[in-house]
Amino acid sequence: MERVLSGVQPTGNVHLGNYLGAIKQFVELQHQADCYFCVVNLHALTIPRDPAELREKTLELAALYLAVGLDPDKVTLFVQSQVRAHSEAGWLLQCVARMGELNRMVQFKEKSKGADSVVTGLYTYPVLQAADILLYQASRVPVGEDQKQHLELTRELAERFNRDYGEVFTIPEPMIGKVGARIMGLDQPEKKMSKSAESAFNYISLLDDPKTIEKKLKRAVTDSENEIRYDPETKPGVSNLLVIYSLLTDTPITRLEEKYAGSGYGALKNDLIEVTVDHLTPIQQKYQEIRKSAELMQILKQGAEKASQVAEDTLHKMKEAMGV
Ligand code: ADP
Ligand code: NA
Repeated sequence: MERVLSGVQPTGNVHLGNYLGAIKQFVELQHQADCYFCVVNLHALTIPRDPAELREKTLELAALYLAVGLDPDKVTLFVQSQVRAHSEAGWLLQCVARMGELNRMVQFKEKSKGADSVVTGLYTYPVLQAADILLYQASRVPVGEDQKQHLELTRELAERFNRDYGEVFTIPEPMIGKVGARIMGLDQPEKKMSKSAESAFNYISLLDDPKTIEKKLKRAVTDSENEIRYDPETKPGVSNLLVIYSLLTDTPITRLEEKYAGSGYGALKNDLIEVTVDHLTPIQQKYQEIRKSAELMQILKQGAEKASQVAEDTLHKMKEAMGV
């Protein structure tokens, strides 16, 4: 069966962009592929954080994976740091990657912009990400559009390794949705919705309560026209709301344009508030149940054991091939 791997960082608040761009696809894929989904907590260390908060966010994200519908009997759920092979393979691949190619990573440039100094892990983390994927011999990686460049690097490293040291890795393909791969910020629809956004009005968290969802969507930036039309170039705000609406209700955007022909932005926003609250309420109820039960730790422990078996096998092949 085809292997799939993806991960999300346990930082900030998991938002509709993460959900619609990536996590919702995980839920669909669990019925079709041998899936490995992880909480990439080692990546979270690339920006210094409070250890207690990182621990809490790690559990929060793991519980959210279950709450949105990932079934631990179908998929392997684990925390990256609990599978040691990731760090080790990350080092081996740092000895395959070139400085020149890491210098070209847009995300590094963005995240380091304006900082007095950054940790070296921020620079090399795309290599660790490559290790995350390649250790599982994943052939597909469901991600949002912002990860496209990192996936290209992963493919490049895998090809180089296979050429220089012998065939070890499956070359992975990114799986980027046609719609939803780039959900935009509510307050800044020309930039992607982001966990690291400064304003809470940028995103809707999966754990936001109805009042907060209402406030944020009411404040969402639109434009000075009054026409509900999908046109991301000239109407990024309204188009973003249509994308979110479409994905949360499985309704084609053209159907929504018909439905709201002649209506104002207020009507669209009011309905989207209801749609969002209806979608997130059962997820939040399930999340609360999971956080109360002791089951989560057991699921993560079993997940790490299963993941380790696969990862260790690939790591062994890497070391053999490299002569260490
Ligand atoms: P963030 O970029 O919010 O810090 P991560 O880097 O942990 O989140 O990304 C987790 C997943 O969510 C990745 O597959 C990423 O591509 C996807 N993702 C992040 N932001 C968005 C967005 N605004 N729209 C669609 N997908 C997104
Ligand atoms: Na990201």
